[in-house]
Amino acid sequence: MEYCLGNKHKRDGKMEKNRTTPREKNMTQKKITVKVFRFDPSVDTEPHYATYEVPFSNGMSVMNALDYIYQNLDGTLAYYDHAGCSLGICARCTGKINGKAGLFCQTPVEGDTCLEPLSLSKVVKDLVATRRGESVED
Ligand code: FES
Repeated sequence: MEYCLGNKHKRDGKMEKNRTTPREKNMTQKKITVKVFRFDPSVDTEPHYATYEVPFSNGMSVMNALDYIYQNLDGTLAYYDHAGCSLGICARCTGKINGKAGLFCQTPVEGDTCLEPLSLSKVVKDLVATRRGESVED
């Protein structure tokens, strides 16, 4: 099988999509740095930040980056994933993205990113925080 790195015109004049081997893709894939607020009140005395390198792909969301970190780099990271809708409806994944409030599941990653909970005073663990009128037991 033949692979090419650039776009190639087919005989009918239409563009042929890039085709790369998985190995070539890994070698050329851009990585971004994701800095994540970490705090487990049952263990930590002070919050801190952990930094992860995450492969970047166009259209990836902040939630995709968190999923990558959780599944490949650090399974101790706490964030709303399965408890949320991933559709921009429930707002459980609200947090600060580079200092601005946003939904992790709906916000595209554009480069190096810093993630924090919306309210530092209501942190249950890492990026999980209670919302107004909600207690830890809910
Ligand atoms: S998970 Fe529901 S809005 Fe993001």
